[in-house]
Amino acid sequence: MKKKLSSLDLQKMKTQGEKAAWITSYDYWTANFAEQAGIDMILVGDSLGMCIYGYEGTIPVTMDQCIYHSEAVRRGASKTFIVGDMPFLSYQVSVEDAVRNAGRFHKEAGVDAIKLEGGKRVCPQIKAITDGGMLVMGHIGLTPQSSGQQGGFKAQGRTAETATQLIEDAKAIQEAGAFSLLVEAVPPEVCKIIKDTLKIPVYSIGAGVDADGQLMICSDVLGIFQAFTPKFVKKYENLGEKTIKAFTEYVNDTKNKRFPEDKHTYKMVEGELEKLK
Ligand code: KIV
Repeated sequence: MKKKLSSLDLQKMKTQGEKAAWITSYDYWTANFAEQAGIDMILVGDSLGMCIYGYEGTIPVTMDQCIYHSEAVRRGASKTFIVGDMPFLSYQVSVEDAVRNAGRFHKEAGVDAIKLEGGKRVCPQIKAITDGGMLVMGHIGLTPQSSGQQGGFKAQGRTAETATQLIEDAKAIQEAGAFSLLVEAVPPEVCKIIKDTLKIPVYSIGAGVDADGQLMICSDVLGIFQAFTPKFVKKYENLGEKTIKAFTEYVNDTKNKRFPEDKHTYKMVEGELEKLK
């Protein structure tokens, strides 16, 4: 029987050099399949804006949408460590907002931790949420909520100057009390320096194999998300194509009366049909 990991287990995995494998999920079924596959952690990412709602980015995503999807994920994966992703404007305006919204994730969706984007500038929020008794994961590198400032969905930390800035942000995030850090779209060498510098686990999405674990977006892993494919994505399946094929066959079967077959229909109770005539 699977045992739900705690932040202490995740810390121990770093110390022992055991990699954590985690994935995003936004619904009951993928969460349940991920749990059955032995995933270590699930992120209910605000990437749900693009993967579920078809927005162009994550900016329109609301707290209510994140809570709603986190509840479903919790029902699907009751024995998995779940991280709720704080959407745009749920923590940037004030520390009070940040604590209240982090608390909503815990009270209404039963998550184990929350994640928020940014470096030094969000450290007051990380400290306040941690002081409120909750676990915070930091997120630096490519941060989709501020992709406008970053010039789009672009790799970060590719020069010594910007890499140094990331390393300083990582240290500040640990100092503020975060229990772990996610590094996105950063050269592997820079992520390794961050991972070797910090005591807390440092995870990668597009930041190389040396991190303490890897995160992938479930719609990318399954080959469902079709708008674009970042360089760091490995598609393990092509469910998009398989789904179109299945739907096409259904449409053709229906139009050509190959569906439903006799085995898909209900029989009348013997003798009852005659009474209708
Ligand atoms: O929302 C999300 O899924 C994320 C990943 C892109 C890291 O934050």
